[in-house]
Amino acid sequence: MSQPRESSKFPFIFAAVSPTMARMNFARGPISEQTARSRLIVALDLPSADAAARMAEKLHGHAGMFKVGFELFSAEGPALPRYLAARGEGVFLDLKFHDIPNTVRAAAREAAHLGARMFNVHASGGLKMMEAARDGAMEASSDGKRPLVLAVTVLTSLTSDDLRLIGLDGSPEEAVVRLAKLAQTAGLDGVVASAREARAIRRACGPDFVIVTPGIRPASSQAQDQARVSTPADAIGAGADYLVVGRPITGAHDPAAAADIIVAEIERTFHQTPIQMANYE
Ligand code: C5P
Repeated sequence: MSQPRESSKFPFIFAAVSPTMARMNFARGPISEQTARSRLIVALDLPSADAAARMAEKLHGHAGMFKVGFELFSAEGPALPRYLAARGEGVFLDLKFHDIPNTVRAAAREAAHLGARMFNVHASGGLKMMEAARDGAMEASSDGKRPLVLAVTVLTSLTSDDLRLIGLDGSPEEAVVRLAKLAQTAGLDGVVASAREARAIRRACGPDFVIVTPGIRPASSQAQDQARVSTPADAIGAGADYLVVGRPITGAHDPAAAADIIVAEIERTFHQTPIQMANYE
């Protein structure tokens, strides 16, 4: 790939089931502001659905997707993601399903019916469970579109000792790559991974595998309780496709302006440093 070009993947946040899915690629290079914005996911970790909906309104047109996690979901149920999806906002349903395949398949169908553009499962649920998640999402698809199904590999809070205690040998990095490859074998679209894991995953899973990266802090902002943070440029440089950013945006005096700064950094990074697969080898 000598000529940097805009990836065909991102303008279509819903993954087309087939065959567009197979054609998705990760060529890096100049991207439009709109595409850069589509790669920003704002974590709506706010105390109520009302507060989250108000924040989403402030950020309308400034971010590509909104992440709803299980704290808000447990407190308020599916009303918020349903409301956001009905307004045409992209929703990343971060509920990390982990159960028997039949149950996960049903949950995946519901996530798709809800209008989620992205949801996730734990890779440690196994190959069959992940296949069931993908199948559930496909069953609920319409117009040849379905949500992206992502895997959580190893929680970033787990150390080697923690892994040994639950019977997993090796380093977290080894487990991350092993589980990412398993997710890919199961037909999932990608993983949620920290920027420091992204490079190894990109190398192992190739250019079409989606990497969604939280723990992002613009150079100017505070790390808060994130132990390991990366700038948007570092994360994109390591192979991330989507960035999840919460408090640096939702806690800012002007959330829309804070989002715009990050989008500009994403756009700049792609423009300045076309990244080819060779960079990961
Ligand atoms: O506010 P902040 O930018 O730290 O929010 C990051 C979001 O990404 C939170 O919703 C958090 O739960 C999630 N996340 C993370 N680290 C992971 C996985 C998910 O910060 N390893």
